Amino acid sequence: MQQEIVVITGASAGVGRATAQAFGKRKAKVGLIARGRDGLEAARREIEAAGGQALVLPLDVSDHDAVDKAAGEVEKRFGPIDIWINNAMLSVFSPIMEMEPDEYRRVTDVTYLGYVWGTLAALRRMKPRDRGTIVQVGSALAYRGIPLQSAYCAAKHAVQGFHDSLRCELIHDNSNVRVVMVNMPALNTPQFRWVKSRLPRKGQPVPPIYQPEIAAEAIVWAAYSDRREINVGWPTSAAIIGNNFVPGFADHYLGRHGYDSQMTDEPEDPNRPNNLWDPLPGDQGAHGVFDDRATSRSIHLELNKKRPWVVAGAAAFILGLLVMRR
Ligand SMILES: NC(=O)c1ccc[n+]([C@@H]2O[C@H](COP(=O)([O-])OP(=O)(O)OC[C@H]3O[C@@H](n4cnc5c(N)ncnc54)[C@H](OP(=O)(O)O)[C@@H]3O)[C@@H](O)[C@H]2O)c1
Repeated sequence: MQQEIVVITGASAGVGRATAQAFGKRKAKVGLIARGRDGLEAARREIEAAGGQALVLPLDVSDHDAVDKAAGEVEKRFGPIDIWINNAMLSVFSPIMEMEPDEYRRVTDVTYLGYVWGTLAALRRMKPRDRGTIVQVGSALAYRGIPLQSAYCAAKHAVQGFHDSLRCELIHDNSNVRVVMVNMPALNTPQFRWVKSRLPRKGQPVPPIYQPEIAAEAIVWAAYSDRREINVGWPTSAAIIGNNFVPGFADHYLGRHGYDSQMTDEPEDPNRPNNLWDPLPGDQGAHGVFDDRATSRSIHLELNKKRPWVVAGAAAFILGLLVMRR
């Protein structure tokens, strides 16, 4: 295990926080980007307690210059960045007709352009050295839009298109810089209690729900794999593959069931604070409020990590059946 130099955006909570903890256990040197100081400082303490090192970088990822400056600060303190993880996100849970123009702009600025600014900051440093890995934290919703999250789904689709373009250009340039997208399933993170919401009832990840440590495990693994993209959990693969074949059926299914499946039975407080423009105070940690409904295991991820063996085993099994039938 080497002492990697890693930057994580959205490191104060949720998936980014779990990923920071995972790299802390590897004793990595980690640049921690988010807006909220409380969560960032807590992440720093966790990494240091595990034997790693951390640099707290409070900033808004929609600010291109701030992101680039932070990359420079990480390199000055720790050395050349090995892995850059774009993960920070915002969303607004709302029917399209009730969305405000500045809400669409804000979600796009953070959830899409934040990834572009992070990628540029990493590429400017990695390309001349001809090494380094960029991880784009994606979603099943990068391929399949759902109701009530139009701004977020559109931003995730944009990240997916950007990812394809970047891969082509790196191949064209014979670059050894790698980029991989990790598409997540529904996760038990704080987002469902702090994103801006116009829903009548409290938001929830569409079950089945996975713990954020599964996402972190996939991200760490992806950073060292040679994959172009990794789907985490069977619901992610099912949504992406299914949508390729029957998108019209998915429209109707989600039109009927996609509202209720995103809400619990508890009424939402229409005046609760949200994180759209500013971070909320306090440390939210990696987990949301769904610990009792979330699983800490993904057999799909385990099999996915061993894909060559799984494919070889399946081929040998089918061959064996054919030979026995003769
Ligand atoms: N949870 C799920 O069900 C799910 C499913 C599929 C994919 N994902 C993906 O997983 C990733 C993380 O999501 P999550 O569920 O962990 O979200 P989360 O719990 O809401 O955490 C979001 C993180 O982003 C940071 N952030 C938000 N706005 C920011 C800004 N303007 N500048 C810098 N940092 C900002 C937040 O910290 P501050 O507020 O302190 O800035 C926080 O650290 C996202 O890319 C998301 O698309 C999640």
